[in-house]
Amino acid sequence: MRASFTDWLILAALIAAWLGLTWLCLRKRPRAAVGGASSLVVYASQTGHAQEIAEATHAALLRSDRDARLVCANRLEPGDLAEADRIFFVVSTTGEGDAPDDAGDLDRAFADSDVDLTGVQVAILALGDRRYTHFCAFGERLKTWCEAMAAEVTAYVTVDDLAPDDLVRWDGVLVQEGVGAMASDRLGNALREWRIASRVCVAGPVGEDASTGASGGLFRLALRPEDGRLPEWGVGDLFELHTPDGHQRDYSIANRCGGEELILFVRRVIDKGVPGRGSGLLTSLPVGTGCVRARIRVHSGFRPPLGTGPLLALGAGSGWAGLRPHLLEAMATGRPCWLIFGERGEADAADLLQEMRAWHKEGSLHRFDLALSRQDGLRVPDILQAHSADLSEFLTSEAAVVLCGRLAMGEAALAALFEAMGKDWLDEARNSGRLRSDLY
Ligand SMILES: Cc1cc2nc3c(=O)[nH]c(=O)nc-3n(C[C@H](O)[C@H](O)[C@H](O)COP(=O)(O)OP(=O)(O)OC[C@H]3O[C@@H](n4cnc5c(N)ncnc54)[C@H](O)[C@@H]3O)c2cc1C
Ligand SMILES: Cc1cc2nc3c(=O)[nH]c(=O)nc-3n(C[C@H](O)[C@H](O)[C@H](O)COP(=O)(O)O)c2cc1C
Repeated sequence: MRASFTDWLILAALIAAWLGLTWLCLRKRPRAAVGGASSLVVYASQTGHAQEIAEATHAALLRSDRDARLVCANRLEPGDLAEADRIFFVVSTTGEGDAPDDAGDLDRAFADSDVDLTGVQVAILALGDRRYTHFCAFGERLKTWCEAMAAEVTAYVTVDDLAPDDLVRWDGVLVQEGVGAMASDRLGNALREWRIASRVCVAGPVGEDASTGASGGLFRLALRPEDGRLPEWGVGDLFELHTPDGHQRDYSIANRCGGEELILFVRRVIDKGVPGRGSGLLTSLPVGTGCVRARIRVHSGFRPPLGTGPLLALGAGSGWAGLRPHLLEAMATGRPCWLIFGERGEADAADLLQEMRAWHKEGSLHRFDLALSRQDGLRVPDILQAHSADLSEFLTSEAAVVLCGRLAMGEAALAALFEAMGKDWLDEARNSGRLRSDLY
């Protein structure tokens, strides 16, 4: 039987449709392009937890013979996401519902609707803390965007304050995928017992029971590892305390590696008469016999700023812990240092301020300005505003800034720096690694 003209027309239309569909599929997902990897593990992390979990996820994928690549969000190349078969995002939320600094353009890309993630399977692990108003807000935004870009979001796991039960759910996602769970010794090897060798209250409120910290205050602690082996750490790294009830708290390590002790400055937090889990433990365990379980965590985002130019250090209260090793390092290498520091008053903080004054007197600190809030009504941003001309002179194009302490102080200080130095200087300093901040 001979085919009619209509039959030929239908056949031609079918072939054209098949070719068109094939071209569309290939155009969207040239899979070999991600260095041959079909799975992508992408992280965005402010203080290192999400990065560590992403690394463990990547290791689990490799152990089960998956072709996988690990990449920080700020290193993503255009097209990486659309070209992967499977994406595992591990991201935290910082500030007030903000993306971590190393999220790169990911947060801004959410406004871009040009990415086609059709056929890409996505699993998201969002780290956050329910004590903040916008719980896992960045993870939530990421999920909404992936869905809008037509990705298939197969799992969305939120983690509250690093709760082990929540992390087990992420292991469940990996196991369901045919990938093994993350290694259970992820933390175990590095955790050790630390004995509190000494503790002094260095800043008020100094009450009748200041020696035990029952009235609050800022304490300088020296800790020694029980096994006698002081581990290595870098400037900016963190002491990650594990409380007996399963919580983790970070404290800036206040000395440079070496010697026999690790130094912390811990503000004792008391809320409605109840001491905080971590700070309560560190400020109440008996000196000499009290031990805590902890490990050192690399904090790559707060390593010494790049360059050799002058260093401006800004902070208040317990932020001294974060600034101190940066200043020690900078002074040792001959960088001119200017410290602007906030406390309540001279009398309250005499012991804390003593060391700063001594450094200034001996000339190691080029300049030292104090903002005493209760005494003079001054805060760190006020000093920045009052000396904006000196700032412009000190902050040459080679200069760097380190900033550490409570979030509200840090944001106000950044706003004042913005006023004094302008957006271009601040953006350039941040992008080139000459501005480092650790705010909490
Ligand atoms: C990267 C990083 C570095 C840090 N470095 C230091 C450091 O060097 N020194 C230091 O002292 N702290 C530091 N912190 C803060 C520290 O990790 C804890 O958050 C702090 O000690 C409170 O924890 P907690 O377990 O004692 O209190 P929680 O048990 O967590 O809280 C108890 C109650 O107090 C409230 N609360 C918590 N913190 C405060 C506060 N500051 N003021 C008022 N109320 C509060 C909570 O909302 C809660 O209701 C750092 C945090 C981060 C993220
Ligand atoms: C300064 C600061 C701000 C934070 N803001 C939020 C927030 O807005 N929402 C939230 O869910 N978690 C918030 N968190 C909690 C972190 O997301 C949580 O501690 C997470 O485990 C940190 O992971 P990372 O080390 O990978 O950054 C904040 C933590 C800090 C220190």
